Amino acid sequence: MRVVITGGGGFLGQVLASEILKRGHLRSGEDSNVPVTEVVIGDVMEVKEWLFDSLQTSSIVTVKVGDVCDASYCASLLNDDNNDKDGGLCVFHLGAVMSGAGEADFDLAMNVNLKGMMNMLEATRQFRPTSKVIPTFVYASAGATIGSGCDTDWIQSGDVISDSTRAAPHTTYGMTKACGELLLSDYSRRGFLDGRGVRLPTVIVRPGKPNAATTSCFSSVIREPLSGTAIALPIDGNLKHALTSYTAAVDGMLAFQTVSPSLANQVLGPYDRTAFLPSMAVSLADLQQALSQIVDTASSSALGFITYNIDKKLSNIVQSFPTSIDSSRANALGAPPTPGLATIIRQYCTDFPNAIHPQLKLVDSPASTTETENYKDAPNLIVAIVTGAGSGIGRATAIKFSTGGWGGPTGKGFAPPQNTTYGIVLVGRRLDPLYETQQLCIEAAASQKDHMKLHTLVISADVTCEKSVSELFTKVKTTFGRLDLLFNNAGANVPPAPFQNVPMQDYHKVMNANVTSTFLCSQQAIKLMS
Ligand SMILES: NC(=O)c1ccc[n+]([C@@H]2O[C@H](COP(=O)([O-])OP(=O)(O)OC[C@H]3O[C@@H](n4cnc5c(N)ncnc54)[C@H](O)[C@@H]3O)[C@@H](O)[C@H]2O)c1
Repeated sequence: MRVVITGGGGFLGQVLASEILKRGHLRSGEDSNVPVTEVVIGDVMEVKEWLFDSLQTSSIVTVKVGDVCDASYCASLLNDDNNDKDGGLCVFHLGAVMSGAGEADFDLAMNVNLKGMMNMLEATRQFRPTSKVIPTFVYASAGATIGSGCDTDWIQSGDVISDSTRAAPHTTYGMTKACGELLLSDYSRRGFLDGRGVRLPTVIVRPGKPNAATTSCFSSVIREPLSGTAIALPIDGNLKHALTSYTAAVDGMLAFQTVSPSLANQVLGPYDRTAFLPSMAVSLADLQQALSQIVDTASSSALGFITYNIDKKLSNIVQSFPTSIDSSRANALGAPPTPGLATIIRQYCTDFPNAIHPQLKLVDSPASTTETENYKDAPNLIVAIVTGAGSGIGRATAIKFSTGGWGGPTGKGFAPPQNTTYGIVLVGRRLDPLYETQQLCIEAAASQKDHMKLHTLVISADVTCEKSVSELFTKVKTTFGRLDLLFNNAGANVPPAPFQNVPMQDYHKVMNANVTSTFLCSQQAIKLMS
């Protein structure tokens, strides 16, 4: 299968190409596991700096320099003598000029972002395999499609926005991205290609030099201090902004690519093929605090100094952006949640070790320390188990519990006293999202005025399996010796089907995930509570 990445020499293009090489397979039509045989990186510039060695050493990566404004160049990315057209094709269209450059040069933004998108869509439409499998086209759109900050805007900063929020961009960049979303939907509706648009919030931590984006300081606040360079930040440290990490952005794009055509149609339908990726509202002060918590204090003098030199105009712009984004359609397509801040910073340090000042040391990840300890004697201990804690409601609830929020939505009901120690057990199948939830819990507890005493325990368990549930509760018993609350949150669904056609395996999957798991966990919980 050929994978074409336009703008592939840029930040996200390189992270994406490297991740595709690691995975080795993508979806083509109904086949979810087609080997990637070629990765074509298209960019208007020669790649000045490779972020990952694998991209230079891989024999299946080729670079084609050219401009997406040129239709024949776009066609050449998809077609050449080497290409086995029936092996499958996936286009990731990332090539674009960003908001600053777009405002400075209207014609450039129109040509690259709009005409370039049309050229890539047309090239994909004209790509004709003899098989009936139509190519997948993943489009990198942006939160800038939504405008805010003006009295007449449909939305204000406090509103929750979603895929149904009307696009009324304030920049030429945002306008071209919104047009791209509409084009993608129509090309998909007509069956020319299978379009999946990924609306990205601001992505951190961008390696290398700051770019001209309004919100580039959300990367600078991490990158510059870690490199030992002083930085003056231009916006108010307490303003929240919707962010995601580059790993979650790329995993989101790949989740959209790999989801089956039937699920994509079920979630996106024929008329609106773009979904907003999950994000989290974070301030510069939050990032600064996360950084200070993971850098070993003995080495922290090597961190570059952070100061604030506030640009009021820029602060006002950032303040006007809504920070609450409903990403339910992206969640349904399998987009991962945004990792915790410490995970984001650690990932950056792992991926770009040369960008880190040599004297800086990170403290051990909390994930490696908590599991072996015993907190039975912690003062005023109360313990909660949350199943399915790696995402969504499970994650949100675990974070709430970590800050003493045990009182229900009205705040009434059980209110733990101030000197309570909280034990939160995070249960799920995959460890990575659980560690991210753990980090978010730790950060939430640390951000409380009266710092919460919190011990988290991450356990990978299959809550539909009696043995696994039994082991889970044994571990809780040996670690905490008690249980006060069980949130049976884990569950699963299957694609809807008329009752008479529901396959037995789907029936068992739903019953096991939702009913058996609740039965098994509740049974064990009662034993531990009584
Ligand atoms: N990084 C973010 O925070 C963010 C947020 C929202 C949306 N996006 C979107 O994601 C995509 C990738 O972003 P990024 O952060 O990697 O940006 P980037 O600037 O690092 O990469 C974009 C690449 O596009 C290339 N390009 C520009 N004009 C081109 C042309 N005429 N023909 C071919 N290539 C051209 C550039 O040379 C560059 O390598 C973009 O479409 C961007 O709009 C990014």
